Amino acid sequence: MGFPRTPISETEAIEQIREITEADASVKNDHGGILAMAFEPSDLAMRLYSEFLETNYFYGRMYPGIARLEREAVSMIADLCGCAKATGDIVSGGTAANILALKAARDGAVKKNPNVVMPATAHQSLLKGCQFLAMEARRIACDEKTYRAVPEKMASAVDDNTVAIVGCFGDPGNGAVDPIPELAE
Ligand SMILES: Cc1ncc(COP(=O)(O)O)c(C=O)c1O
Repeated sequence: MGFPRTPISETEAIEQIREITEADASVKNDHGGILAMAFEPSDLAMRLYSEFLETNYFYGRMYPGIARLEREAVSMIADLCGCAKATGDIVSGGTAANILALKAARDGAVKKNPNVVMPATAHQSLLKGCQFLAMEARRIACDEKTYRAVPEKMASAVDDNTVAIVGCFGDPGNGAVDPIPELAE
């Protein structure tokens, strides 16, 4: 497709984009394939997202307010999860979040040949993360009926070089919630 040489109006551009994406999966058309992992953002979330679209908390001196919002949001979420002292980052998507979590696990454990044990239902970004970070991804079959991780099977794949165990709190394909407390044990 060639680069368009003739300008079109904003309205035309929006119409074209809407037409092209008309048949796409959406929470608005109750597409089953997306309901496990997506929901319609609230009006407030969309308004705030567009208001601060170009800001970047990475540059804390330019955006001290945004950096503070990140710190406070992380602290609130940590409190909600019962780990008030936990630290973290807010990133722009799930892949980045998963890769950062894997990196933290790898760097914290310092193993020569690190591996990560995950249910077969885990999101592909975890495989990508393991590749990026030179770790072995051990994908373990789930229960055939419930699609949930089976703690005994996961445990048998863990060894001295395991730096992380993945559990899905609503896996992206099926929405199955893994038995997180048992996996943590
Ligand atoms: C558990 C999980 N991890 C990672 C991702 C990938 O997220 P993104 O497309 O924002 O990188 C998704 C997307 O649905 C997800 O559900």
